[in-house]
Amino acid sequence: MGINEPIPVGKPVDIPDKKSFNGRLAFAIAAAALGSSFQHGYNTGVVNAPQKLIEEWIKDVESNRTADGIVDPSKVTMIWAIAVSIFCVGGMIGGSITGIVAERFGRKGGLLLNNILVVLSAIFQGSAKAAGSPELIIIGRFLIGINSGINAGLAPMYLAEISPVNLRGAVGTVYQLVITISILVSQILGLESILGTAEKWPVLLAITVVPGILQLLTLPVCPESPKYLLLSKGKELEAQRALSWLRGTIEVHDEMDEMRTEYESVKLVPKVTLREMFVNSALRIPLFICVVVMIAQQLSGINAVMFFSTSIFEMAGLDGVNAQYATLGMGSVNVLMTLLSLILVEVAGRKTLLLVGFAGMCIDTVLLTICMAYVKGGPVWVSYLSILFVIVFVVMFATGPGSIPWFLVSELFNSSARGAATSLAVAVNWTANFIVGLAFLPLAEALHGYVFIIFAILQALFVLFIFRKVPETKNKTMEEINSMFRQISYN
Ligand code: GLC
Repeated sequence: MGINEPIPVGKPVDIPDKKSFNGRLAFAIAAAALGSSFQHGYNTGVVNAPQKLIEEWIKDVESNRTADGIVDPSKVTMIWAIAVSIFCVGGMIGGSITGIVAERFGRKGGLLLNNILVVLSAIFQGSAKAAGSPELIIIGRFLIGINSGINAGLAPMYLAEISPVNLRGAVGTVYQLVITISILVSQILGLESILGTAEKWPVLLAITVVPGILQLLTLPVCPESPKYLLLSKGKELEAQRALSWLRGTIEVHDEMDEMRTEYESVKLVPKVTLREMFVNSALRIPLFICVVVMIAQQLSGINAVMFFSTSIFEMAGLDGVNAQYATLGMGSVNVLMTLLSLILVEVAGRKTLLLVGFAGMCIDTVLLTICMAYVKGGPVWVSYLSILFVIVFVVMFATGPGSIPWFLVSELFNSSARGAATSLAVAVNWTANFIVGLAFLPLAEALHGYVFIIFAILQALFVLFIFRKVPETKNKTMEEINSMFRQISYN
C-alpha cells in the first residue's frame, strides 16, 4: 500500500465512510506514534528499576580510575543524577528546534531523520559497560533526549494533521497512549527476572533502538502530512494524493476545500516568528494557553509519581517487592485510563476533561497528603488508602491532563504559526519536567509527605485558569478556532 499505488476510484474499498477510521489511517498513526512516543516514554521510565545496579557499576569504574581506589559516594550519585536528568535537557533542546525541523524536513521527513539520534544513542548506551565509561550513558541519554524533544513536537503535529476533524482528539491521544505503554514496558523489562540485572542492563538501555528501526521500515510507506504539503509547500496535487491515501478514497473534496481556505488565508502571510506571537494578541492568547497547559501537565507532579513511585509506595508502608508490583499496577492503570480518554475526548471535549482531570488530581492530592501524615504508626488501612490515592492521582491525570496538552498546540494554531508555537510549548514542557525531577527529592526530604501540598495548590490554580481561558476545540475546524481567537482579541 505505497503512496504511489493507485487510489481506488469511487466507493472506498476498505472503509464505508470517508470521515471514519480506516486501515491506512491506522497504519500511519501506528507508524508515526510507535516509533516516536516510545522513545519519550521508555526513556522516562527505564532509569527507575536499574538505578542501584548502574550506580554499583559507576562506583567500580570510578574506583578503578583513582589511584587509591576510594570513591566518594556523592560523586556516584551525582554522575547518576546527571545521566537521568540530561534526558530532559536534551528534550528542551529538541523541543525548541521542532518547528524548524517540521518546516525544513516535513513532519514525516523529520520523524524519519530523527532516528539517526536513536541509533547513536543506543550504540553509546549499549556499549558504555563494555567500554567502562559512564560518560557514554550520559551522552546517549542526552541524544535520546534531543530525539524525544523533537518527537514531542513532530509526532502530535503529524497525527493532528492527518486525522479528520471529528477524530483529531482521539488520534492526538495516541501519542500519550504510546508514552504510557512504553513507560509500562520499561518497568516490566527492568524487572530483575527480565533485563534488570548487572549483566543485562546495557541491553535494557539499548533496546530503545527497536521501535526506531520499526519506524524506519513502516513510516516511508505512509504519506507526508497533507497540510504540510499544501500549506507549507504549496503542492496541491501531492496534498490531495496524500489525503486520498489516508482516507482510502478519492472523494476528499470537502477536506481539500477546508485546507484551501486555510491556504488562502495564510498564503500571503509570511511564517509567523516567535516575536510576532508575543506582539499580536490573536496569537499571544492561544500561545499563553498552550504554554500554561504544558506547565500544568508537568507541575501537576505526575513525574514525581512516575519517577519515584516505588519510594512513595515504600513511604506508604509497602515492602520493596510489593512496592515494585504496585508501580506496575500504577503503570497499567495509566495505560487503561489513557485508552478510555481516547474515546472520552471526542465525547466530553477537551476543556471538560482537562477540568475534571486537574480538579480530581487536586482533591486526590489533598487526601493523599492527609493519609501520608498518618501512615507512620497508624493503622494499616491508612497505608492502603494512600496507595489507592496514588493510583487515583494517575487515573485523573490520564483523563485529560496527560494527553490533551500535546495536541492542543496543533489545534489552536494554523500552519503559519504552528511550528513556532510548538517549539516554545514543547520546550517549556521539558523545562518544567526537568525542574520537577530536580526539585522533588530535596523538597520531599524537607517536607516529607507534605511535599504534595505544593502540587495541590498548583493544580487548583490550573483548574481556575482552564475554566476561564481554555476554549473548547472539539469538532471545530482551524478556521473556526482562528476566528474565535480573533474575536477574543478584538474584545
Ligand atoms: C506525559 C508527560 C510525561 C509523563 C507522562 C506520564 O506524557 O509529558 O512527562 O511521564 O505523561 O504518563
